[in-house]
Amino acid sequence: MIKLNIDHALGNVINRADVEALSPAAAKAIDDLNNGTGAGNDFLGWVNLPSQTPDSLIADIEATAAALQRDCEVVVAIGIGGSYLGAKAVIEALGNQFAPTKTPIVFAGQNIGEDYLFELQEYLKGKKFGIIVISKSGTTTEPAIAFRLLKEQLEAALGKAEASKRIVAITDAKRGALRQLATEEGYKTFVIEDNVGGRFSVLTPVGLLPIAVAGFDIRALLDGAKAMEAATAKAGADNLAQLYAETRNALYNSGKKIEILVNYNPKLHFLAEWWKQLYGESEGKEHKGIFPAAVDNSTDLHSMGQWIQDGERTIFETVISVAKSAHEVIIPGDDANLDGLNYIAGKHVDEVNKMAELGTRIAHVDGGVPNIHITIETLDEKNLGEIIYFFEKACGISGYILGVNPFNQPGVEDYKRNMFALLAKPGYEKETEAIRAKL
Ligand code: PA5
Repeated sequence: MIKLNIDHALGNVINRADVEALSPAAAKAIDDLNNGTGAGNDFLGWVNLPSQTPDSLIADIEATAAALQRDCEVVVAIGIGGSYLGAKAVIEALGNQFAPTKTPIVFAGQNIGEDYLFELQEYLKGKKFGIIVISKSGTTTEPAIAFRLLKEQLEAALGKAEASKRIVAITDAKRGALRQLATEEGYKTFVIEDNVGGRFSVLTPVGLLPIAVAGFDIRALLDGAKAMEAATAKAGADNLAQLYAETRNALYNSGKKIEILVNYNPKLHFLAEWWKQLYGESEGKEHKGIFPAAVDNSTDLHSMGQWIQDGERTIFETVISVAKSAHEVIIPGDDANLDGLNYIAGKHVDEVNKMAELGTRIAHVDGGVPNIHITIETLDEKNLGEIIYFFEKACGISGYILGVNPFNQPGVEDYKRNMFALLAKPGYEKETEAIRAKL
């Protein structure tokens, strides 16, 4: 099980009593999540998802993944936000950074980069590729553009009927353009249930199918999440999600408005990106909410380190440590020792990394950056499942403590309305006129 230590978040701007003062609100939040009595209660399908995912669904995902692995040299996962980041986070954490997974997964639809799409189309030319297109609403512009382009490319290469066999759509059960298209074209489909929001959907087919295609064990991922679901189901001093939610809210209330999620393992970069979406979209509302930022150390000690150590004191950090690396690399000795590194010759690279981490954490606490510390034993499916569910549960509790509805995202619509107005989308005539008057 992951470990959580808040000792070094205390003593500077908050103490244990400030954290405990939030326990009644946290206990109420947990009740509200369990009983569906809080705001956004029509989006609580994720709460018991790990324990309630039917074996038949897991088997269907595994069989679909096996078919894609058999038929494709590469699979493109198309999606954005919650329909992208969870799979990307797990695949990056478990994969080899210099060798693609057995069936490589590439991502599209997470941007509107013309050059990105051009280069992707070039890369796919002549390759046997498949597509997993993921959109809960089925109407999001970024993935819709990517899908239109890649579907056309696949159909040009294989013909419509064969192409349809290499496309899997993951979308709403009934609504949306993607559901309609999937029905018309006969794609294999999976459903994103109505009661699971995008950023809470990594443990549904949205995340599980690309992760399975990449060759990772989705049953172990779900097992880890299930263990954390059980461990965080009830309020209490041993509920780690509750403790994390209370601590970060106590820090926020004391003026620490920015949380930096820090890793010392480059494989966790996208876990932090996933976390940023989860907390940013869930909590940033009504002019409230901790700003979620992230750094990859020690890399970013050479860019953001100065600011974190010495800049405005409005930040706290949550450090994720991976206790054991998967492989051993020993620093060699050198007779000339011109670089002066012989004092660490014979040590594991990770031992040096751990000292960089410890030294930085101590320096940050000394410099007025409270430190929450999470430890995971190793990077494997089970531990990732645990930490994913831990952050989801803590996010629900934390949003309720903050007093917002953590399960909607009204602010996301504003840029879309402006973009549609600027592109003169039919139905947006008034908005087009209004926005053009501002230019
Ligand atoms: O969390 C959310 O709901 C959003 O970030 C969505 O995941 C994102 O906008 C993609 O939406 P969709 O899956 O409908 O294309």
